Amino acid sequence: MSFTGKVVFISGARSGIGAAAAIEFAKQDADVVIIGRNEAKMNNVYKQCETHGKKPLVIKADISKDKEAKAAINKTIDKFGKLDILVNNAGIMRLGSILYGNLLESHDEVMSTNLRVVMHLTTLAAPHLIKTKGNIINISSIGVKYCRFY
Ligand SMILES: NC(=O)c1ccc[n+]([C@@H]2O[C@H](COP(=O)([O-])OP(=O)(O)OC[C@H]3O[C@@H](n4cnc5c(N)ncnc54)[C@H](OP(=O)(O)O)[C@@H]3O)[C@@H](O)[C@H]2O)c1
Repeated sequence: MSFTGKVVFISGARSGIGAAAAIEFAKQDADVVIIGRNEAKMNNVYKQCETHGKKPLVIKADISKDKEAKAAINKTIDKFGKLDILVNNAGIMRLGSILYGNLLESHDEVMSTNLRVVMHLTTLAAPHLIKTKGNIINISSIGVKYCRFY
């Protein structure tokens, strides 16, 4: 399948599923936007995409911060003029305990990244995706891993 001319924004693309998706989309000739906080690791993904002849746009951003998420979408549009695919992939896992008092902190941190960011990025991307009749890919989990009892 060819993604020539398609712009793909991938949150959390410095490792794991996001990195693999970035490399695969680059292989299929897409223009890929790599988002994360760890620049060194994103640069490794950049190099792997480059071997397929595509130079991704690397954006260092903490997307749990509203301004940085907005800036990342804006930079994508500034660079490519459009957006075809939003991949909501960034996610974190935190453990909390009912007995030791950190359950709510863990809950808030996980929900802030794994849920709120998805809603925010989708809101920011939607007007651009409507123009291109684009797609949203949400990577999720069957587990909400922030609770333990001891
Ligand atoms: N691996 C599995 O077995 C599995 C199973 C079920 C579901 N999932 C889901 O699949 C997705 C990816 O999982 P994975 O295992 O590939 O994860 P991973 O290797 O831990 O990667 C998570 C990515 O999210 C980014 N990220 C986290 N918080 C961020 C923030 N505030 N701002 C920007 N980037 C942020 C990280 O980049 P930086 O640290 O550079 O910011 C990293 O690139 C997650 O949503 C996870 O819940 C994974």
